[in-house]
Amino acid sequence: MADTKLRMGMVGGGRGAFIGQVHRTAACMDGRVEFVAGCLSSTPEKALASGKDLNLADDRNYPTWEAMLEGEKKLPAEKRIDFVSIVTPNHVHFPVAHAFASAGFNVVCDKPLVHTTEQARQLIDAVRRTGVVFAVTYNYSGYPLVKQAREMVAAGEIGEVRKIIVEYSQGWLANRLEDSGQKQANWRTDPARSGAGGAVGDIGSHAEQLVAYVTGLKLQAMSAELTSFVPGRQLDDDANILLRYCSAGSSECAGTGADTSDREPGARGILTVSQICIGHENDLSIRVYGTKGSLLWRQEDPNFLVHRVDGQPQRILSRGQGYLGEAAKRNTRIPPGHPEAFLEAFANTYNNACEAIRARKAGKKDVGGVGLGGPFDYPDVVDGARGVHFIETSVKASSSSEKWVSATFSA
Ligand SMILES: NC(=O)c1ccc[n+]([C@@H]2O[C@H](COP(=O)([O-])OP(=O)(O)OC[C@H]3O[C@@H](n4cnc5c(N)ncnc54)[C@H](O)[C@@H]3O)[C@@H](O)[C@H]2O)c1
Repeated sequence: MADTKLRMGMVGGGRGAFIGQVHRTAACMDGRVEFVAGCLSSTPEKALASGKDLNLADDRNYPTWEAMLEGEKKLPAEKRIDFVSIVTPNHVHFPVAHAFASAGFNVVCDKPLVHTTEQARQLIDAVRRTGVVFAVTYNYSGYPLVKQAREMVAAGEIGEVRKIIVEYSQGWLANRLEDSGQKQANWRTDPARSGAGGAVGDIGSHAEQLVAYVTGLKLQAMSAELTSFVPGRQLDDDANILLRYCSAGSSECAGTGADTSDREPGARGILTVSQICIGHENDLSIRVYGTKGSLLWRQEDPNFLVHRVDGQPQRILSRGQGYLGEAAKRNTRIPPGHPEAFLEAFANTYNNACEAIRARKAGKKDVGGVGLGGPFDYPDVVDGARGVHFIETSVKASSSSEKWVSATFSA
């Protein structure tokens, strides 16, 4: 018999917001989650009006996130939310995530997780203390063909990974959109609300996670140049980063303080992200080159994965086909030729986190995701923390006179 639906709460995602509606659609797509509570906007009036738009019951439509936490804590377990989704601008993530996780609520938080590695470590501590499920919506790793790429790399189908090129190009911030009152541009270009990274935080964190997810490689060092092309902008709108990954079995990379100069490095990478590339909409792609073959996946054509082997014609793997691996099959809904895309991949991220939440409800203790090395396939608090460390290190490397800056991270 099917479990009862999980009860979802939300902070952020009110009138005029971008990603909140995507989260609600994704979480509820397969009919196993219901949206029951929220504090959806930054002012009490707008929060309550936004909750009414979405038919939240009056007693679960909260004016502030603090009132929501107190209200939900008082409810009996069978009524209380099973998880809270945090879809506010970045500066609000930490206080909300820390308070809910510390109170024992499962959390789904959007990226970048928080502003500093120090805050991220506090969240990891809270998760370890309370045992909650903490997912970070790095939704691009929810695509079936990305999961296929991960499985193929792990199975050695392209041999040992030598080189990665990850590109995330957008053009929507090529001019001072922030001056027009467009709120998504406004807070993303403000260091107080966005954090230390501009493009490198907003979309660079997705690119970093995509490489980590597909290849399993750990970052050793980087050389970065962040640029603010648009006059007067305080944060970068373009970033070009050279990456060195740890070589297989290199123990230095398991801890902190890696030697970045005289050890044989492993794979090399190029990460380029930009929000001033006119004509590019959401152009994320990853290429992975190994000793036996290579893979290419593009977010704007996400149902296909190109696999090339030396001396052979290229193969184009297609979503929904019987020849794909288990992970791709598990994260697919409809037959090939009927395109699945952004919303379905987002829903996969939710489904996999919800599987861990259900397991925790049933008494299972080990409910970690990818970063924690747990049994579930969702990006977790450690993946989120590594992303924050990547952003911080990129900013540091960009202003450093050293060619290589250590980028190792361990939780
Ligand atoms: N995973 C993805 O693909 C993806 C895509 C877009 C945005 N994001 C992330 O999602 C988050 C939200 O981005 P967005 O573009 O939807 O922003 P947005 O500005 O469109 O929406 C933010 C919402 O949060 C609300 N809010 C602000 N402070 C609040 C508070 N104290 N309490 C309750 N609500 C509050 C605002 O009123 C608004 O409704 C950001 O962290 C962003 O980086 C992720």
